[in-house]
Amino acid sequence: MKQVKIGKSDVYTSKLGLGTNKVGGHNLFNNLNEKDGYDLLREALNLGINFLDTAYVYGLGRSEEIIGDVLQDYDRSKVIIATKAAQDKSQDMAINNSAEFIKKAVDEALSRLKTDYIDIFYLHFPDKETPKDEAVETLSDLRKAGKIRAIGVSNFSLDQIKEANKNGKVDIVEDQFSLVHQSPVKEELKYLQENNISFVPFFPLASGLLTGKYALEDWDKFKNSDGGKLLGNFDKKQYDEAITGIDGIRKIAEDHQATVTQIVLAWYMANPAISVVIPGARNAAQVRSNAAALKVELSSSEYQQIDQLFSSF
Ligand SMILES: NC(=O)c1ccc[n+]([C@@H]2O[C@H](COP(=O)([O-])OP(=O)(O)OC[C@H]3O[C@@H](n4cnc5c(N)ncnc54)[C@H](OP(=O)(O)O)[C@@H]3O)[C@@H](O)[C@H]2O)c1
Repeated sequence: MKQVKIGKSDVYTSKLGLGTNKVGGHNLFNNLNEKDGYDLLREALNLGINFLDTAYVYGLGRSEEIIGDVLQDYDRSKVIIATKAAQDKSQDMAINNSAEFIKKAVDEALSRLKTDYIDIFYLHFPDKETPKDEAVETLSDLRKAGKIRAIGVSNFSLDQIKEANKNGKVDIVEDQFSLVHQSPVKEELKYLQENNISFVPFFPLASGLLTGKYALEDWDKFKNSDGGKLLGNFDKKQYDEAITGIDGIRKIAEDHQATVTQIVLAWYMANPAISVVIPGARNAAQVRSNAAALKVELSSSEYQQIDQLFSSF
């Protein structure tokens, strides 16, 4: 599988990873089955998908714990673990980027993951008080101590990313981006590419919408689903435009004997602005199906056609 380098770090990973907010993320989603969480992690690792994206806030440590359990059966050096923290439980989940809190959060994540290093650590959200470059210096100290390998920030505005990267130490940024959420991050992606910072989009499947399982008449169903609630201010007009775009993808999918999801994931993997794509999954069958996206090679005209179908976003 093709490997990508993360920023200026020595971390290399496959282009297709796995989002794990549905692994133990009981505080975020209803009716999650933990056994499915264990199974889907094993499915991903067995298929060679070696990049796992997690966070403290997915189950308040439970996602990290489950990943730590599963990792016991695999070669740790072959797995890339990306995790995040910033929500301070002792202060009502207030965002905290202070050195004291972040160092404690990294130690606690290491213990839940049952490992002695984290490949990529992100500040999950910026706080109001801590200068961003100072927060990155905390991560730089943790890297020197061998506890993390690459420095990331998530949910930072472009100006906040620039402040965080004042000393050129940010390796990777994770923010919302998908075929239906492009223009808000256009300038950010340009800055990241110019500054050798890797980019990982979250909600690549628009929380399920871009899998092709919703039709025009399903707006209410989608809006009331876990995914629809997560997408927040996505409105009916945007929904209809997205469904029209997805219908255009169906033709390309037929030509490749692939699913809509596989074509969407192949588009991200062909996009030079994107380093790693981390679709979330609820069960092992979804992971297996999504992994087959690695076999899809889009022609440049198909790539551009998909671009065009979603140009209003
Ligand atoms: N940094 C941040 O602040 C932040 C924020 C959000 C997410 N993230 C990370 O980004 C990852 C990706 O985002 P996400 O998981 O929320 O959304 P996503 O990748 O856009 O959508 C994932 C969801 O789509 C559905 N799905 C996936 N594959 C499918 C398939 N083959 N067929 C049908 N449905 C399928 C599943 O939900 P259903 O089966 O329930 O429909 C799955 O949970 C997360 O897991 C998390 O690691 C980070």
